Amino acid sequence: MKHFLDIHKTDPAALRAMIDTAQAMKAARNGRPKGSPDDETPLKGRMVALIFEKPSTRTRVSFDVGVRQLGGETMVLSGKEMQLGHGETIADTARVLSRYVDLIMIRTFEEATLLEMAEHATVPVINGLTNRTHPCQIMADVMTYEEHRGPIAGKKVVWCGDGNNVCGSFLHAAGQFGFDFTFTGPETLDPEDKFVAFAREKGSKITIQRDPFTAVEGADLVVTDTWVSMHDPESAKERRHNQLRPYQVNEQLMTRAKPDALFMHCLPAHRNDEATSAVMDGPHSVIFDEAENRLHAQKAVMRWCLGV
Ligand code: CP
Ligand code: NVA
Repeated sequence: MKHFLDIHKTDPAALRAMIDTAQAMKAARNGRPKGSPDDETPLKGRMVALIFEKPSTRTRVSFDVGVRQLGGETMVLSGKEMQLGHGETIADTARVLSRYVDLIMIRTFEEATLLEMAEHATVPVINGLTNRTHPCQIMADVMTYEEHRGPIAGKKVVWCGDGNNVCGSFLHAAGQFGFDFTFTGPETLDPEDKFVAFAREKGSKITIQRDPFTAVEGADLVVTDTWVSMHDPESAKERRHNQLRPYQVNEQLMTRAKPDALFMHCLPAHRNDEATSAVMDGPHSVIFDEAENRLHAQKAVMRWCLGV
């Protein structure tokens, strides 16, 4: 069973093949209407369940459109409206869904929910974000970097702000794709040691640097994300904003990066908090290419999962 649960759990050669497939599929569409199927429709006759226990715009729409372009069908399920949200176990949900659908994508809170789903499902399961990781996003980000600047291996990626789920998957990707990664943010919001250890074991240079201006020096790619994630309590908002304000990505900070550095944000953004609109809409920014590439990267992930 080929689940796509996390970047560090997926073979680097398979990850590379998925990026290549995604790029080829994107090129092949060549401006066709979004609703038209691809030339190849390997998901024809297949049903995909998309389960959301948290809000989503990009993940929801890109998976839905992606499945249809590949010739398949989708059903979008809200966790709250399923029996899952009313006491049915994850294991039973996984067993039942596996009788109806060919593939399950789930966005949830606890990583344990994703893992239990994968353990009991007899069809592939894809991680559409948990509190700990967001692997589909980082597949799109690697694809986006390479589409603009060529191989990401050996490049310097700097993460500014909260060491959250997206940051965690970036660290996994640093290890698997061989790039260097600098985290700059307050100590209390450092990424988990496990993520850092994985990337270091794989030979990537991982740096923790409290001063954002020093951190961004010579960066090839500067990345940030919201200061308050969906799983963070609303009560933590003010404290987080105060802690994270020095790590805002603004034009002054971007002058420290390489002149041709890219800027990424997985979106949704709180404009002029974690990044200014001047940066988000400025010459370094590729945020909407990232959003588009969710579609292409996930189509490649689904094809890999199903072996089609
Ligand atoms: N980047 C991302 O996953 O966006 P959504 O929350 O809109 O799916
Ligand atoms: N870190 C954010 C990412 C949203 C796509 C969150 O978990 O809310």
